[in-house]
Parts: sequence; structure tokens; C-alpha cells
Amino acid sequence: MTLSLYSLLGRSSGYATWQIVPERDMIDLSGYTTGDFRRGASTLKEIAWWAVRALFFQTPIPWPSSLRVALLRLFGAKVGEGVVIRSHVNITFPWRFSAGDHVWLGEEVLILSLALVTIESNCCISQRAFLCTGSHDFSSPAFSLLTAPITIREGSWVAAAAFIALGVQVGPGSMVAAGSIVLANVPPRVIVRGNPAAVVKEL
Ligand SMILES: CC(C)(COP(=O)(O)OP(=O)(O)OC[C@H]1O[C@@H](n2cnc3c(N)ncnc32)[C@H](O)[C@@H]1OP(=O)(O)O)[C@@H](O)C(=O)NCCC(=O)NCCS
Repeated sequence: MTLSLYSLLGRSSGYATWQIVPERDMIDLSGYTTGDFRRGASTLKEIAWWAVRALFFQTPIPWPSSLRVALLRLFGAKVGEGVVIRSHVNITFPWRFSAGDHVWLGEEVLILSLALVTIESNCCISQRAFLCTGSHDFSSPAFSLLTAPITIREGSWVAAAAFIALGVQVGPGSMVAAGSIVLANVPPRVIVRGNPAAVVKEL
């Protein structure tokens, strides 16, 4: 911990506050480790997934969804029937991914599944939505990795370019409007929008 004149004078206003505010230590990425985090698969399996993902997912070639679903299942995902997966969908760890029946994943959907991502039946995840199960503790010098699962409950729609933060549950029957930043659970049958996302309509 360090103490400086800067902190003595107060950092947010142009006026001296004369409060002694200890500065926190800044992050030091040279000491970063992922702590207790486990990747959930062998290195060989992960390398195989990278190859499969590059060839069949992160490509403009419109491979049939049935093939993509079969590959996800092969790598440990639980995927239901009638699931549509467009091109450039990026799922980090399929072994931490679960989708019900008739789920749609639009182009460039990013699913960072460091923790389990569950998308229940009849959900639409539109283009460039980001389901992000990871974060870091910016108050810790070790920049500690944080992870928590995400659940999109039945019949919900996460519209284009929405960001869903770790630990969040959406719905059932709710809509996250395009570009929203969702940091807290979304109740059933509502529309949320904005940053941070707030309920604008009950359905
Ligand atoms: C929810 C949605 C459909 C707009 O709904 P809408 O009720 O027609 O919205 P309106 O155009 O009537 O706008 C109503 C108000 O909400 C605001 N608004 C609409 N969508 C918004 C959004 N995504 N984020 C923030 N504000 C939004 C508008 O600015 C307007 O504000 P104002 O009353 O102050 O002028 C749209 O926001 C959306 O998210 N669509 C999804 C698009 C998508 O993902 N498509 C995928 C490919 S098909």
C-alpha cells in the first residue's frame, strides 16, 4: 500500500480535501494466476476443440446446424432438438454449455463459458450478443479471475449486441433490448434495456 501527495489532496476535485486516503495497490499482471479455476477438460481435448471451432463454427461457411450441434455434443455440450447455430458463433468451452430445444444463436454470438451457460428452450440469442461468465477483481493486485454461471430462462430473447454479465439469470419470457448491459437478474416477462439495463415494460 502506498500513500502519496496525490491521495492527500484528493483525486476527483480540483480542491484540496486534506483527507488521508490510502491508495490501493495497482494490479500487477506479472503475478497473475487463474487461482482455483479449472478449464474442465484435458489440453488435448481443448486443442481438438480449437480446431473444430475454427473449421466448423468460426467460418463464413454455412455448415448445417445439425452438424454443429453434433460437434458440440461430441465435446460435452447438452443440446436439444431444433437448435439453430449461425456462423461465427464462439463458444469457449462446449463442456460448459447447455441449450434446450429450438434455441437460436445468431451470427457472432460470443459465449464465454468459463462457468456453465444454460440457455433454456425457445430462446433467441441475436447477433453479437455476449454471454460473459468471467470477470476480474480490479481491487486485487492479483487481478483475480471471477467466474459465475449464466442462465437464459425459457422463451427469452437476448437481442443484438447485448452484454450479459456473470451470475445473471434472464427471464423466463423476458427480452433484453439491443445493446443493453445486463448486470443483475432480469425478472420473468419483462423488457429491459439500457446501461445498466432496467425494466421498461412488463409483459
Ligand atoms: C426493443 C426494440 C425492438 C425497440 O422496441 P420499440 O418499442 O419499437 O422501441 P421504440 O423505437 O418505440 O423506442 C422507444 C424508446 O426506447 C428507446 N429504445 C429503443 N430501443 C432501445 C434500446 N435497445 N436501448 C436503449 N433504448 C432504446 C428509444 O430511443 C425510444 O426512446 P424515447 O421514447 O426516449 O424516444 C429494440 O430496442 C430492439 O432491441 N430490437 C432488437 C433488434 C435485434 O436484436 N435484432 C436481431 C436481428 S432480427
